[in-house]
Amino acid sequence: MALIFVEWRCQMTKAFLMGVSAMTSLFVAGLSYGSKTEGGTELKDVLETADATEIDISSKDLDSTARETDQIEGTTDDGGFEDAQMLEDIASTDPQPEGAETVVGLPLLKGPYLQWVTDKSIVVLIETKDDATGFASVEVSGGSGETVATKDFVFSKTFEKEGFPPIDTYLGKAKIEDLKANTKYNYCVVIKGSKVVCDAFWTAPLDKAYTPYTFVAFGDTRTDNDAHRKVIDGILSLSDVPHFAINTGDLVALGTDLTLWQEFFDIERPLLSKMAYYPVIGNHEYILWGKEYFQAWFDLDTPLRDELNYSFVFGNSAFVALNTNEDVTKGHVFDWMVAQLQSYHEAGYHIFVITHHPIYTCSNHPPYKGGVEFLVPEFERYGVVAVLSGHNHLYEHFLSNGIHYLTVGGGGAPLYDENDTCDQPRVMWKKVHNHMVVSVDGEKIEFTVFDDDADGGPQVIERF
Ligand SMILES: [Fe+2]
Repeated sequence: MALIFVEWRCQMTKAFLMGVSAMTSLFVAGLSYGSKTEGGTELKDVLETADATEIDISSKDLDSTARETDQIEGTTDDGGFEDAQMLEDIASTDPQPEGAETVVGLPLLKGPYLQWVTDKSIVVLIETKDDATGFASVEVSGGSGETVATKDFVFSKTFEKEGFPPIDTYLGKAKIEDLKANTKYNYCVVIKGSKVVCDAFWTAPLDKAYTPYTFVAFGDTRTDNDAHRKVIDGILSLSDVPHFAINTGDLVALGTDLTLWQEFFDIERPLLSKMAYYPVIGNHEYILWGKEYFQAWFDLDTPLRDELNYSFVFGNSAFVALNTNEDVTKGHVFDWMVAQLQSYHEAGYHIFVITHHPIYTCSNHPPYKGGVEFLVPEFERYGVVAVLSGHNHLYEHFLSNGIHYLTVGGGGAPLYDENDTCDQPRVMWKKVHNHMVVSVDGEKIEFTVFDDDADGGPQVIERF
């Protein structure tokens, strides 16, 4: 049965690729999916050296892609999905109320992970092999242990769209509402009456309130799982758990590869269950149907959701996330960005912008084309505090006309060089895996950047 399933998936993939071959060009490339570590050189080179929008794809490339995608499909189907008895065994699963670290053996393929936290609500997601409608819920309790909300997960296929390889698992979503602002809640995922995993989250401060909070930013978590794990461990070793997390893109090395996504969710599981997660899409996800998969897991509620641009507020701060795999220096996305910046500025929010591609950088990849010419004037006009980026795998800090431009692309990917010669106003740079904590307390904003490669745990690179 499994073989039939895998073969069917292969046929679906081939059908899709044949359809694509009719197109004269695509944003990606003479692909060799091959092995993720050895045979992927060609794709790796493409991703490392070029903007995806500039690359043509030929039918020959697609043939080889189809063949090698078959190999991946064959292995992907085993990636974390072996436990056919999963839901049947749930009733006998011991409760694990001590925290998300104790998830070994749980039937959850992914999660619980958190998204879209406000001053009164949060979204909890889990992924299961089978449809668990009717016997999976989330139970939320307050500080004294009283249950304040119970919500059933609503399940649907993780991803199912005509013309694309499906993700044949189920995503359960539960939006918890009527919560209090700036409050720590405990919660448990309950399946068939058993608390299978528990953790805690913070709601946002009241909209515009000057209540202190922190968030963490990091990116380029792809490729090196050990380095990625080290960065996540470093974040979780902080004395105060951040209220939410930003990933500046390139979460995985290849956005179409389900095995890599499973590894990402496994490594980040203890973080994802503690804080809402806001990723921007990187070029490594923005490949073929990788964009669709990204959207399937991350429900980024916004008018421009399909184009992967979004914004949100948290207390007295506002965040504008841009999909810089496309040209956002003109057109309707640019107009939307300007309108967002203007309204947030007029409302008095601190404004942060999130991009995958850096506006200023002196490392391997060049700066985002048109960023300085078209985006920076708007950032300056509306008083942006900082622009958080990735794509180059190191830490870089530029300061231009009062705006901090920060590349925190050291989340796990192979490190890039600093390039000692730089004609831009670079304040600090370091070729290390890293993460950045931002503490907001009224008008005061403090950035602390950590070196996660240091002996004995994370060491401060810079605080400002
Ligand atoms: Fe990138």
